[in-house]
Amino acid sequence: MFVNTPPMGWNTWNTFGHNINEELVLKMVDLFVEKGYKDAGYEYVVIDDCWSGKERDETDRLVADREKFPHGMKYIGDYIHSKGLKFGMYSCAGTRTCANYPGSYEHEYIDAKTFAEWGVDLLKYDFCFYDGVDSKRSYLTMSMALRASGRDILFSACQWGMNNPAQWMRSVGAHMFRSTYDINDTYESQLDIITKQKNNFNGNAAGCFNDLDMLTVGMYGNGLVGRPTKMTFDEYEQQFAFWCFNGCPLMMGADLSKVDDDCLKLMQNKELIAINQDKECRPAYLFCENETRVKYALKYIRQLENNEFAIAIFNLHDNDVTDSLTFSQFGIPFVSGRNIDMKDIMTGEVFKEKHHEFQTVVKAHHFKIFRCKYSEV
Ligand code: GLA
Repeated sequence: MFVNTPPMGWNTWNTFGHNINEELVLKMVDLFVEKGYKDAGYEYVVIDDCWSGKERDETDRLVADREKFPHGMKYIGDYIHSKGLKFGMYSCAGTRTCANYPGSYEHEYIDAKTFAEWGVDLLKYDFCFYDGVDSKRSYLTMSMALRASGRDILFSACQWGMNNPAQWMRSVGAHMFRSTYDINDTYESQLDIITKQKNNFNGNAAGCFNDLDMLTVGMYGNGLVGRPTKMTFDEYEQQFAFWCFNGCPLMMGADLSKVDDDCLKLMQNKELIAINQDKECRPAYLFCENETRVKYALKYIRQLENNEFAIAIFNLHDNDVTDSLTFSQFGIPFVSGRNIDMKDIMTGEVFKEKHHEFQTVVKAHHFKIFRCKYSEV
């Protein structure tokens, strides 16, 4: 199975943790469609940990918790499919899942078959209770088991970035791989994830994508990975823009019934999603990193389809910065004689025929992205 562009969807974990059940999931599926996420390109509804019974059944198969999911998981899958969406599930490479439900260790083939029978389209595969388990071997085994299952199932490897998965997850068959520990709804967590990406992006391209974890956009402290939050809307904009600019999977984690209008519009922003889903699927190139004490302003170029490109500045400082882009830093020296047209994708403002240098103000904890093309000659 080949996945052309970063997967997009919603996952139960960030907000609901173990508090999941059939009614909740079906409600979220309805909201997914009604609130416009499906039309914006989101596709997968993923049920994370805590869906199963505490033990396997007498035939050694995974079974749904009967109280939480009285009609079983195929029923959920059928409902998701009836809305034109795709069904994601969760298991773990260890003997138990992170929340201590049965894991798939030494049950990979039987579990993959069960998931296929339920109509699963994506499997998130975690890495708790892994003592003595070789992670490369475990992920390879489940990926081979999914291939044998008779159904196309996107393999989402959640191994938290140990042993540099950007170097090998693609080769063992994953379609996306977590390169970080769990996100939570704080700017510190966002900063930690953003600043740890420097060596990961070349591992990010069509077929297998670098997963920065589920978005916390719109949570405002509400839910399992919420904390008494001080996240601002600017910070959520920076999070969504960073995930989009870098072509990472977009898995929402907020309660879709509580996302406010600003965050809804943000997560459905066409310009940002277009960059995320760009067909050329090229990773971004970090051309400048200004370090002041421990914090950074990161500047990237990302080449896009149709010979367009985008320039981004992510301001991780606590103050607004006036930044100047020197075009030679991203491959357009003065002697090229070429000018560019730049569109600020958030304001829509277009700057025509720019050359050599461009100054812009980037707010604290915020960003600027310019979608650019060469001006006509
Ligand atoms: C780990 C993963 C999370 C989530 C939980 C479930 O912490 O990294 O994304 O799946 O397990 O227990």
